[in-house]
Amino acid sequence: MGLRLKFNLVLLAVFLAGFAVTGYVSRTLLDRHAREQVLGEARLLMEAALAVRAYTVDQVRPHLVGQMDKVFLPQTVPAFAATETLQHLRRNYANYAYKEATLNPTNLRDRPADWEADLIHSFRNRAEQKEISGERDTPTGRLLYVAHPIRIESPACLQCHSTPDVAPPSMIRIYGPANGFGWKLNEVVGAQVVSVPMSVPLENAAQAFRTFMVSLAAVFAVVFVVLNLLLSWLIIRPVTRLSAAADKVSTGDFEQPEFPEKGGDEVAVLASSFNRMRRSLEKAMQMIDG
Ligand code: HEC
Repeated sequence: MGLRLKFNLVLLAVFLAGFAVTGYVSRTLLDRHAREQVLGEARLLMEAALAVRAYTVDQVRPHLVGQMDKVFLPQTVPAFAATETLQHLRRNYANYAYKEATLNPTNLRDRPADWEADLIHSFRNRAEQKEISGERDTPTGRLLYVAHPIRIESPACLQCHSTPDVAPPSMIRIYGPANGFGWKLNEVVGAQVVSVPMSVPLENAAQAFRTFMVSLAAVFAVVFVVLNLLLSWLIIRPVTRLSAAADKVSTGDFEQPEFPEKGGDEVAVLASSFNRMRRSLEKAMQMIDG
């Protein structure tokens, strides 16, 4: 096996191993980063929903409770305020979603989809669980969801969610007596579910990955070519010429010109040693002949 082949095989093996390891590590890091970014967005949206809920309870409801026996205003209900506000957000951010998915909801638009019902059941079964996040494939692309349990922590909630006879009649007039009742204190009745699209951050990560790998391959190609040229100029060509000359000299052919001893590298030292050996040999031969 020639020097060049050996050299290139080792170079290629090192590169392939480096390419695989770097590819795997950078892909993992970029994907993780994209997911963390989306998770951060989802948590921010969740906080925004909680802020709207708190605002409704603290600043809107107190002004309107007085007239609630005449007309029930859903605008005073935190769940309604949060759902409506984040619905507005969807005008500009279509794939973002917020839902107060509830197993037995007052407003039927809060009915859970199957996967949301699964989340609620898992919150019900594991009281210590405060958050579930995950990913789903939908026709509009991959979504990341974050869910928090909705637990009935205050007896005040039961005024409107226990039995229809204790609920405000004005509310029953709008929502009817069939849904959203029978909730118990400390029960998990539903889950706040935020969905955030992942396609753009994932595509950005994939793009960054492609650019990085192509640059790495380009750097390797340049290194490969430069090292091969250096190998040719500095080692293979002079060594091939030296060995051809040594062949000739070994058969008694001293017509060859001396080797140029340019430079201070190992090949130049070899060339000067060869020249000296050749001169000694030539003298020795002349002495024998003479
Ligand atoms: C004054 C009556 C009233 C009180 C008190 C009340 N709710 Fe409601 N709640 C409603 C109404 C009405 C709706 C439906 C709003 C809509 O149209 O989206 C609702 C909706 C909800 C929803 C969304 C699911 C669904 O049923 O449509 C949740 C979750 C919820 N309430 C939780 C609570 C919690 C927790 C409390 C106590 C902190 C509470 N509610 C107190 C009247 C009330």
